[in-house]
Amino acid sequence: MDKPSGQSLRRHLLVSLLVPLLVVLMLGALGAFVLARGIGTEVHDNWLYDSAMSLSEQIKIQEGKIRLDISNSAIQMFEWDKADLIFEEVISRKEGKIYRTARFPEPPIDLTANVPQFYDNVINGHPVRIVAVLIELPDGHSDDVVVQVAETKLKRESLTTRILWLAVPLELIILALAGFVTWFAITSSLRLVNTVGERLANYAPDGLAPVEDGFAPAEIKPFINSINRLIGKLAESQATQRRFIASAAHQLRTPLATLQVQTERALREPDPVRHSEALSHVLAALKRLSRLTKQLLALARSNASPPMHEMVDVDLAELVKDELVRWADKAIHLDMDLGYAGPECGVHIRGDPLLLRELLGNLVDNAIRYGRPGGQVTVSLAAAPVTLTVDDDGAGIPPDERGLVLEPFYRLRGSAGDGSGLGLAIARDIAARHGLSLTIQTPPQGNGTRIQVEPDLLPNGRRQDTALIP
Ligand SMILES: Nc1ncnc2c1ncn2[C@@H]1O[C@H](COP(=O)(O)OP(=O)(O)O)[C@@H](O)[C@H]1O
Ligand SMILES: [Mg+2]
Repeated sequence: MDKPSGQSLRRHLLVSLLVPLLVVLMLGALGAFVLARGIGTEVHDNWLYDSAMSLSEQIKIQEGKIRLDISNSAIQMFEWDKADLIFEEVISRKEGKIYRTARFPEPPIDLTANVPQFYDNVINGHPVRIVAVLIELPDGHSDDVVVQVAETKLKRESLTTRILWLAVPLELIILALAGFVTWFAITSSLRLVNTVGERLANYAPDGLAPVEDGFAPAEIKPFINSINRLIGKLAESQATQRRFIASAAHQLRTPLATLQVQTERALREPDPVRHSEALSHVLAALKRLSRLTKQLLALARSNASPPMHEMVDVDLAELVKDELVRWADKAIHLDMDLGYAGPECGVHIRGDPLLLRELLGNLVDNAIRYGRPGGQVTVSLAAAPVTLTVDDDGAGIPPDERGLVLEPFYRLRGSAGDGSGLGLAIARDIAARHGLSLTIQTPPQGNGTRIQVEPDLLPNGRRQDTALIP
């Protein structure tokens, strides 16, 4: 099977699912990271606060002076840490420095008693996290004491790196799993679509039976329904074509059989009179064959799509007058009065002049053939909307057969001449090709036939004038 061209459904689905999924996962990872770091900071800050409060426990008042009562070994224990350096400072507003292991920045000024305040700064060149607590002195002592404890940030930073090192591979594993699941889901769904493709590829067009859609997923069914509608139309047009070919073959068979019989007779006939009689039958059959062939070709031309000739600006008045001159002799020969009623020129439409002549020729031919011997045939033309009418005063066409005579090969019972029933079908097709419709009516005088060609009727009840050249 050919490689499908155009946009790939699989790629479209993969991209439209995986890209948003990737963004969501990244946002999730970022959120988890921020949360974990926040909790880590809080735990370490609490520890700093606890240290500051233990230190504040050792503050004593001796003879009105504030002292920190703590031994060196206790300080060593207090400061012991595997990773970080610890500094502490106790100061009072009145006495200044009471105890310090390093020089601290000024504590924040808006401290509330026993409520810790945390801030980042640098001590001895180390970036540190500091807690500052204002301690309330007992016994109405009026001084303010501030305890500050600082810790370098090594533990905090290593925690952040560890979270990152854990989170990134975890996210990658989740992404890979999600990608695999998505790919699997898409592939198995597309397999259903492929089944439809395979069924269609194996479709046997002989019977033009509809494609059975029971196996197809619901989303694909409308697609199959469209195909089935198309197949239905094809089947219909195939049946019409078959009927047409059968009728055409039937029509060709009669003159061919005559041709054979009469030629054989002419060959056998020693009598010169009978010989030439047979030959005149041969000629008649040949004429009939030639007319039928011409008409079949005309029908093919009027149906051809795209048009065989270009549509050009045609002055219908001039074309009609010119064509009537060609029919004058035949009309006179049959003692018929062939007349024209309409403008001398200036009825313009876009059209194919050859086809338009064929259309008018067929209508005039019918009017003369099936009209009243010695009767009247009138061709009328009107502009805006362009209307071409051919009237005769013959026997007419019964209303219930007016639809049928427009179909190929249909003739009224007992029709004179050797026609094959194609003329009106050709005329109707040519009219349709020009956006015109052809109708069969009864002329105002009440007998005979009127064939009227005019622009198609629009849904608003008006005639469209697209055929007109502005
Ligand atoms: N002006 C007319 N008056 C009476 N009958 C007509 C007229 N035009 C057509 N018909 C009938 O319609 C039939 C079909 O006409 P057409 O398609 O031109 O085929 P054809 O002329 O070859 O028979 C004719 O055989 C005839 O019976
Ligand atoms: Mg005819």
